[in-house]
Amino acid sequence: MDFVELPVNQKAATWNRTIEERLNRLVRARDRWRARLGLGGRAADYDDVHYECEGGARDDLRRKHYDKSLRLLWKAEAAAPWSSFRDLAAGERAVADMAEQSLSPAEREVRARITSAEFRAELDRHYTPRQKQALVNILSAIGHGEAYAWLVSASNLRDVQSSGAKAAVTMQVLEEAKHFVVLRELIGAFAVPVPRQSAWEYLLLEGVLKARGLEKFYGMNVLVETIALSIFGALAHLPGLELLRLFHLDEARHTALPQNYFKEFPMTRRQRTGRRARARRLRMALPTLPLILLLEEDLAVLGIDAFEFAGSVLRKVVHLSDRAGFELPAPPEVMLGRFNALFNLYCRLTRPGHQARDFMAAETSRDEVVARVEHDAFGGRAPTRAAAAAGGPPAAPSPAAAAGDDAAAVGRG
Ligand SMILES: [Fe+2]
Ligand SMILES: [Fe+2]
Repeated sequence: MDFVELPVNQKAATWNRTIEERLNRLVRARDRWRARLGLGGRAADYDDVHYECEGGARDDLRRKHYDKSLRLLWKAEAAAPWSSFRDLAAGERAVADMAEQSLSPAEREVRARITSAEFRAELDRHYTPRQKQALVNILSAIGHGEAYAWLVSASNLRDVQSSGAKAAVTMQVLEEAKHFVVLRELIGAFAVPVPRQSAWEYLLLEGVLKARGLEKFYGMNVLVETIALSIFGALAHLPGLELLRLFHLDEARHTALPQNYFKEFPMTRRQRTGRRARARRLRMALPTLPLILLLEEDLAVLGIDAFEFAGSVLRKVVHLSDRAGFELPAPPEVMLGRFNALFNLYCRLTRPGHQARDFMAAETSRDEVVARVEHDAFGGRAPTRAAAAAGGPPAAPSPAAAAGDDAAAVGRG
């Protein structure tokens, strides 16, 4: 290139360089000493000399979570055309338009009619007012959880090391923000009162947000995400709620993050097995039990047994905790046995003629696309051939294809 070079005062340029070099040494020495004295050194855990976050590149984590999240990124406008979201890029809109042209005239008319009012009318056709209220009570419990998932994952950005892990967590922040705003609109479409957080949810989620360092990975990615994933799994087969398959797919990926992260940055033995840490984890999970008792009535309206639901959640939580290295006060089988005894005791007291049974072996996810994702992740029931035929929401990435892709990451990390 031919640039017309401008004259520069060389003496001034040398002064400026010298001043910067001396100030650089001074500022960094000051922050090193302040850090050593516990007075707070450099705020950013960033290594500008190597152009990486502290902890290095860790591209494997980036590939498993950041790249995969972008590959499976779904847009609300395509998955929920009745919503107010207009998030498709021009290229995506062109693809959606082309896909629409391949529909038959009748199919195209149905799709064009799905406005917000049409969607509400469709929900009214499928559900009684009590069923709508039950769905909203259950979905809003996790809707409030999505707000906390957003805040917790944003705060996790400061707790994880390496560029790869920060990129992975950044995608979780983005997905939780999307979950919160999209789920809020879906819940709003039911047009029934949305309950506040119950006291048990308040205690559970505040406990997770206040947890120290990577214990938040246990509270959020293992415990709360598994509850969310199980609720989405139990409802995704219902009319108007097919969109929940996409939420389920994202949450499955989020539950795999702790074990993938600890492969790169293992916890110390004390962090994994310390008596206080194990007791803290159990304490953090305890509000889940009364929360499920509180939801028993609404789950029953939808034909879901609260204890089967709780059993399937706890089996997955205990399994994921074990895989990530978050030890609990007792080995997995013992923990599950104790919870099962407690559930059977409660049922004996409240359900006439109750016969003892293994709630921990129950599975309340009915959707075949969901089953495909969970099969590899948790060793649940095998997906049937119907899964291949089950489609996702219109114009969304095929959840069946995405589930297969995601299951590989969730199951084998
Ligand atoms: Fe979420
Ligand atoms: Fe999540």
